[in-house]
This record gives sequence, structure tokens and C-alpha cells, in this order.
Amino acid sequence: MNPAFSVSTTETSDSDSELKPVSGRVLPPKWDVSKSVSPSGTGGLGVPTMAGSSLGVPTPGGLFPLGNSQQVVSGSATGNPRNKVALKPGFSLMDWIRLTKSGRDLTGTGGKILKVTKTELAKHNKRKDAWMAINGVVYNVTAYMDYHPGGWDELVRGAGIDATNLFNEVHRWVNYESMLAACVVGKLVDADEVAFKLPPKSKGPSSFSSLSTNSSLSAKPVIPPIKSKPQLPSIDTHQTDLTFVISVFTRVPNQLQRENIIIEILEKVHCYLSIRIPNQESEDQPFRFLSEYTLHDKARLGKVTVVTSTGKVEIVLKKESKSHWPNLGQIVEGFPKLSKAANLETRYRDWALIDRKTVTHDVDHLILEPLPNLDLHFFVPVGHHIHTKCLVEGMEIVRSYTPILANLDPFLIDDGKLHFLIKTYSHGALTPMLKALEKGQTIPISDHTGSFDIHTAFQDVRQLILVAAGTGFTPMAKLLQQFLVKKHETKSVCQLLFFNKTEQDIMCREQLKGLEIQYPIFKVHHILSQDEKWTGLKGRISREILDKVLPENPKRRLVTICGPGPFAVEAKKLFQDMDAPEGSIFHFQG
Ligand SMILES: Cc1cc2nc3c(=O)[nH]c(=O)nc-3n(C[C@H](O)[C@H](O)[C@H](O)COP(=O)(O)OP(=O)(O)OC[C@H]3O[C@@H](n4cnc5c(N)ncnc54)[C@H](O)[C@@H]3O)c2cc1C
Ligand code: HEM
Repeated sequence: MNPAFSVSTTETSDSDSELKPVSGRVLPPKWDVSKSVSPSGTGGLGVPTMAGSSLGVPTPGGLFPLGNSQQVVSGSATGNPRNKVALKPGFSLMDWIRLTKSGRDLTGTGGKILKVTKTELAKHNKRKDAWMAINGVVYNVTAYMDYHPGGWDELVRGAGIDATNLFNEVHRWVNYESMLAACVVGKLVDADEVAFKLPPKSKGPSSFSSLSTNSSLSAKPVIPPIKSKPQLPSIDTHQTDLTFVISVFTRVPNQLQRENIIIEILEKVHCYLSIRIPNQESEDQPFRFLSEYTLHDKARLGKVTVVTSTGKVEIVLKKESKSHWPNLGQIVEGFPKLSKAANLETRYRDWALIDRKTVTHDVDHLILEPLPNLDLHFFVPVGHHIHTKCLVEGMEIVRSYTPILANLDPFLIDDGKLHFLIKTYSHGALTPMLKALEKGQTIPISDHTGSFDIHTAFQDVRQLILVAAGTGFTPMAKLLQQFLVKKHETKSVCQLLFFNKTEQDIMCREQLKGLEIQYPIFKVHHILSQDEKWTGLKGRISREILDKVLPENPKRRLVTICGPGPFAVEAKKLFQDMDAPEGSIFHFQG
């Protein structure tokens, strides 16, 4: 058996004190920073740095950029101290998001996309009438003035001009494109490209979709669609004699959770980092930011902190010996990179079986741990799964499994191990091998994957209906736990419709019963298809069964379905026939 391995402690924080790194920001080497170079460098601007801080993120070719390099982005191009202002009540980021979604025309042009010359741009240079060009796109930032965390007096400095360099020098990591999507006026053009003409005022609401409307000046859209690919996160480092801290600024506010981050340190020197970055345009197509280093010296993984509000990730490496590192180490060729998760090769790691418990006659609870030479930050998001693979008669077989927690206690903390409920099919390809796996033996487990997003799925939900057949219960387990944590003190309802063949097939029956007693908002219905003696609900999923168990009012209902193909198809159809609104049914599948 493998010795117990302690996982890193992890925190998700919203604290404002996390917003500013102590040392200067360093761009990953692949960036073209030629336009945002600060002539005076960090030191000249008096930006405080931690004693012994290192600014180096190396490239394959050597140590780059050095602390005094022109590649180090300056503190403030404005010369002002980089202090954020206290925003007036009602002018927070959330208030800004609400305003941009309110349908109010923030462009001042009725949402029409214009060609804007520099002369025209220059006319809009006041607090109450401010246009600003960044990377070729002109925004009306008048409405944003009071929401700008740096203060309106800072923002107005970019009014009436091409503020690309100014913007980048101050805060390149800010995702202005999505923040100002409702403020797009048009494209910055040369004077001779078009004679500027403001179209008649329209009272129509402006929205993100207005970007695709045709300009009155041209038959074609005049600016390219806003890029769906997020910007490459920037990396910043600092150190003490005992620790080396890596800060990653994803520029994706209010979305990152600790589950989105995978960090691996192999043999104390090989460091791999993977951050799942949501795709604003397609929930199913997230990106992954990846980086890989050979560390300067041996270190263990320490605390990992996610600042959800800003999208910052802070990773503490604990140095094995007290020393000052000239830099983090050597970056592996081809990194850092940002790729669609779907395009990435699946990454596997060996996990060792440390325990096995019998759950039913054909289902086991398997518990696995990473090997002792691997420090790992790995938490599987609710409703996501992993892959495992093995060679069966010379053919590589890949199968999916959905981890659960150690038990169904809603307030249980993830122990960093992997727990699975796995049903053995005696004639199956892979499960007989899992059944034969002995303690201490290893299997390859992939990075987690999946499209379910609990944070958006639970928004406004008052009724959660979990429809599971057999091992289709596995994604429901964590979902149920999260719902009980979040809603147990409300008037919400959660029902598990659990379909099995016989009574002896029911997994976790006693635990589910315990939850029903402890949490009155939860109810489980067992429905058996092949049990003569069963006095409860019988049969396969049908409208009749649903009518018997579901609450009458389907308002704010979320239905999640998991089970064998035909079962899931039938379940989905039944709910669709009940006029379940678009997006209120989620089917877990590979
Ligand atoms: C996203 C996802 C998550 C999952 N999570 C879990 C989980 O947490 N726990 C879990 O136990 N399972 C889970 N599964 C199912 C799992 O991936 C495997 O499908 C399952 O373990 C069976 O694998 P196997 O290779 O042993 O069986 P397979 O070889 O795939 O066979 C499965 C069954 O079909 C029969 N069969 C195979 N071929 C034929 C054929 N040609 N004709 C008739 N019958 C046939 C076999 O005899 C066996 O009874 C999940 C699946 C998905 C897609
Ligand atoms: C080009 C003119 C601009 C100037 C001179 C400017 C200046 C500043 C300054 C001095 C700060 C505070 C210090 C800091 O945390 O770095 C700040 C913060 C900020 N600005 Fe701007 N800004 C400009 C444009 C914009 C634009 C167009 C946006 C986008 C919508 C924006 C969004 C923000 C945000 C979100 C912060 C907080 C950053 C953080 O918390 O890390 N700024 N700005």
C-alpha cells in the first residue's frame, strides 16, 4: 500500500487584498510586448517589490526576461500611484455588468457600428462624452467613467485618443473586450478611408449582438467579430528564501474556482499547470491555459489560492532548501499556450488503489491516491468525469467514470483522493480488470472533463430533479450534496428518481435515507423494474411514474438525467413533452 499523501490546502477567496501582486508583472515570453514597453522599467517607477523577489519567467533559450529588462511591464504609465479608487455605492463591477445587460444604449449611436477617424475620435475627449480606441476598436466609455476602478480622472486620459499603449501599460490583463462589449462605437480608420458621418439617432436597445448589424456606411460589418479566444493569461512571480510564488492573471473575473486548476509537481522539479478558462461564446468549448517548467531547484506544492473576483491564481511552491532562485526555472518548449480543451491531448497520471469497499453485489467503492512522487492539486468539478484506459487484447480501451466524495455528507470536504462507485460487468472490457486491481496497483487517470457548470446551472433553481438509473447515480451524488449545502434552509425541493432492477442493486440506500431524514427538502423515490416483491413504485421510466412523484408546479425546475442510452433518451423526451423550458434539462454523457 502507498504511504498516505497529503494534498495541498486550497482556498477560494474574494478578498480585495488579493487584487494586487507585490512584485511587477511579467508577460509570458511568447507575447509581443513591443508596444507596451515601459522606458523606465519597474525600478524607476518606484513600484514596491518584495525583498528578494524574482521577475523572471525563462524561455527555452535562457533566462528571460530579466528583472531589469524592458520586457517587464511598468507599474503605471500615468505616473500616478496605482491605487484603485473607492467606487460609489451602486458602481461595482456587478452593477456595471447589470447595466451592460440592461438593454440601455451605451454606445450613443443606437448600437450602429461606425468607421471612426482620429479627427472624429478626438472630439469625444471629455468625461461626459468619452470615446476611446483600443486595438483598433472604438468604445464609448462615458457610461463606464464612474465604474472604472482606477477613477474617472484616470480613464478620461485615454478619451479621444488611441489609448492602446496607455491601457496596456497600466493593466494589460484587464479583459476590456468583454467589459466594454456593449459600448462598441466602431472601428478606428484612417481619414481617407471614409468620411465620417453619424447616423440618425436610434432608440433601439444596444446589445452585444448589435456587433453583427451592418453599418449604415457599409454593406459588410466594419469590425471583425470580437475574438472568442480569451487572451493569454499573464504570469508574475515573487519569492522569499522559503517559498516561490507564481501568480497567474487569467483576466476572467467571477468564474474561476479551485476545480478549474490542475497543478502537478513531479519528482519535486517538473511543474505542470493547467487552468480551464470558460469560453464566453460556447460553454461546451472551454479553453485551457497550459504551462510547464523544470524548476530551478526542488520544491513541494504549497497553498493554491483562487481569487474568483479577479480570476487570479496564486501558487505557492515550498522550496526544499533555503535559497534565492534566479528565476522559476526552465520553461518547457511550446509553453505557455492557450488551447481549446477539446483540441488537447488527454493527459494521464498513475493513481494507486488504496482501498476498496463493497457497495452492492456488483458495485465497489474504489479509493485512489496519486503516487508519492507527485504533488497534485486536482479536484473534479461537480458533474465532471475522468477517463481511464487499459490494453485489452492489444487494443486500448478508454472508459469514463464520475468521481464521488468519500460519502454523501453534504458538508464533507474533498480529501483530494479519487472515490468511484464502479459496477463490474463480468463480460465487460474494462471493469473486470478494475475488479481485479489490488491495493497498491496503479491505473492511468486523465485530467477531468465535462460541460456541466454548477454555478450557472443552479442559478434561480428552486426544484432539482435528479433522474438516475444504476451507476447513473454517480454524477447526481455531488450535485445533491451541493444543492443541500446551498438550499437546505430554503423552500427549495430536491428529488432523486432512482431507477434500478432489483432492491439489491440500489446503491447508498441507507445514506440516502439518512439525508431524507436530516434534510426535509430532499426526497428519494426508488423505482424498480424487475423485483416481484417490491411494494413501491415499479416499472421503467414513464409519464405515469413522473406524474406520481414530481411536484405539481414545474417552476424554476432543473432536471438532470444519467443512465444507459435508451433510458436517458426516454427520460429527456418525457420532460420535453411536459414543456420543460430550453436549458432546464441536462443529460450527463461522455
Ligand atoms: C460520462 C460517463 C461517466 C460514467 N461514470 C461511471 C461511474 O461512475 N461508474 C460506473 O460504474 N460506470 C460509469 N460509466 C460507464 C463506464 O464508462 C463503462 O461504460 C462501464 O464501466 C462498462 O465498461 P466495460 O468496459 O467493463 O463494459 P463494456 O465492455 O462496455 O460492456 C458493458 C456491458 O455491455 C455488455 N456488452 C458489451 N458488448 C456487447 C455487445 N456487443 N452486445 C451486447 N452486450 C454487450 C457487456 O457484457 C456488459 O454487460 C460512465 C460512463 C460515462 C459515459
Ligand atoms: C486607457 C486609459 C486608462 C487608464 C489611464 C487607466 C488607469 C487605471 C488605473 C491607474 C487603475 C488603478 C490601478 C491598478 O489596479 O492597476 C485602473 C484600474 C482598472 N481599470 Fe483602468 N485605465 C484605463 C482604461 C480602462 C479601460 C478601458 C478599462 C476597461 C473596461 C479599465 C478597467 C480597469 C479595471 C477593471 C481596473 C481594476 C484592475 C484590477 O483590479 O487589477 N481601465 N485603471
